[in-house]
Amino acid sequence: MNYYIGADLGTSSLKILLVTPDGRIVKEVSRKYPVSFPHPGWSEQEPQAWWDAFVSAVRELSAEYGKDIKGIAAGGQMHGLVALDRADNVIRPAILWNDGRTAEETDYLNDVIGKARLSELTGNIAYAGFTAPKLLWMAKHEPDDFARIAKIMLPKDYLNYKLTGVHCTDPSDASGMLLFDVKRRRFSDEMLEVCGVDRNAVPKVFESAEAVGVLSGDAAAVLGLEPGIPVAAGAGDNAAAAVGTGAVVNGRCNISLGTSGTIFIATDEFTDSPGNELHSFCHADGGWHLMGCILSAASCNEWFCDRILGSGDYRTLEAAIPDELLGANDVFFLPYLMGERSPINDTDARGTFTGLRLDTTRAAMELAVLEGVAFAVRDNLEAARRQGVNITQSTLCGGGAKSPLWQQIIANVLNIDILIPETEQGPGYGAAMLAMTAAGEYPSVRAASEAICGVRKVIRPEPELARKYEDRYARYREIYPAMKALFKKLK
Ligand code: XUL
Repeated sequence: MNYYIGADLGTSSLKILLVTPDGRIVKEVSRKYPVSFPHPGWSEQEPQAWWDAFVSAVRELSAEYGKDIKGIAAGGQMHGLVALDRADNVIRPAILWNDGRTAEETDYLNDVIGKARLSELTGNIAYAGFTAPKLLWMAKHEPDDFARIAKIMLPKDYLNYKLTGVHCTDPSDASGMLLFDVKRRRFSDEMLEVCGVDRNAVPKVFESAEAVGVLSGDAAAVLGLEPGIPVAAGAGDNAAAAVGTGAVVNGRCNISLGTSGTIFIATDEFTDSPGNELHSFCHADGGWHLMGCILSAASCNEWFCDRILGSGDYRTLEAAIPDELLGANDVFFLPYLMGERSPINDTDARGTFTGLRLDTTRAAMELAVLEGVAFAVRDNLEAARRQGVNITQSTLCGGGAKSPLWQQIIANVLNIDILIPETEQGPGYGAAMLAMTAAGEYPSVRAASEAICGVRKVIRPEPELARKYEDRYARYREIYPAMKALFKKLK
């Protein structure tokens, strides 16, 4: 039997799936690693920690399956700046996708280079989490380190480099750098110049299911795998998750509730987003997609349950929420714990609870967290609707998708059918399909995804609750505009 490794290089952990060509998950292994927040709103991680996690996770399965593993691919957290020097040493910790330090650089790009020019060159405008403003930040605040940069890449590209020795990336992940001409699927010389990046510093672009190279002898020995197996370019985690949930057909939608929350709409052609409320990026199947990203999704629930309530027992906390509170909660939560990306693009935005009273219960606050994330996702669904994309159903993946209560809240708040896939592990599952395609098991990413992805159950909106949530959502929408000016003063 042939097996493929699909890795999900996430923000809080690395997950590895061992998958057969017909889509059976034989083994799952995960390793946690820390995120460091050196200043409020900053977020960094050591690339070495990703590699250590990958080695340790693969070694857990290689003794038993190593000889039969025929390919590897990863889906990875997007936008993170990994900078290497001439000897391929990591220069500084990676600055992650949810890092908000670059407000000034983001404003410079949007106001001085201008949103119109950025859109022409890249299909997108600047957001603080994107890679280009991070480069400008580094040039200004760490000029000596910036001068040492010989190669830049994204998080999962660093794993691929360690596996093959090749400096590479793929169009779906490169799209989030704001250095990449998304429509033409190549780096933009003008954007490289704007950010002071040498042409030689950019990685080589391979399509997601193309092999960037083969597993080197050194890496194979460390991992307990066979040298020479193909390593596919892989994808940004959201594009990989779309492959892993079957969102490879024009108009199909996938929602992910991981550390971030995303709404991802596959498109056959490049489509720009009028007003740039959504990102317009390349897909891992050769096409494109539109995407809205909220910076804190399942991480809000983790924060509230683990950090604030001191209980990681999410199911028990959810079970304590009385049915009559659904659609009738007068506590609201803004989920902007790391500022917010889509659609408000505001690094100063903060999380809030609104509507607390002396009789407010823990259950009401916990429900407000789940609802607040659903409302923030709805903001992105509305942004898609404003540009004529009509979504009537979506798959749901990511850690948050494991909660039956949250599944139903999402269906009711969005008022669309929610399709629960066979596995909630979108990026790792999709990455395994990219590895299979690179190894020749399937003729294309779409063929792999359509053959393998199945739906386990359909969650339909409950009409009465959907009506009540419509009203709640209208209240929720008033909170951020009322707070916006104050958020700026809380710095
Ligand atoms: C997407 C984004 C996040 C990260 C999370 O634009 O920033 O979804 O990819 O891993």
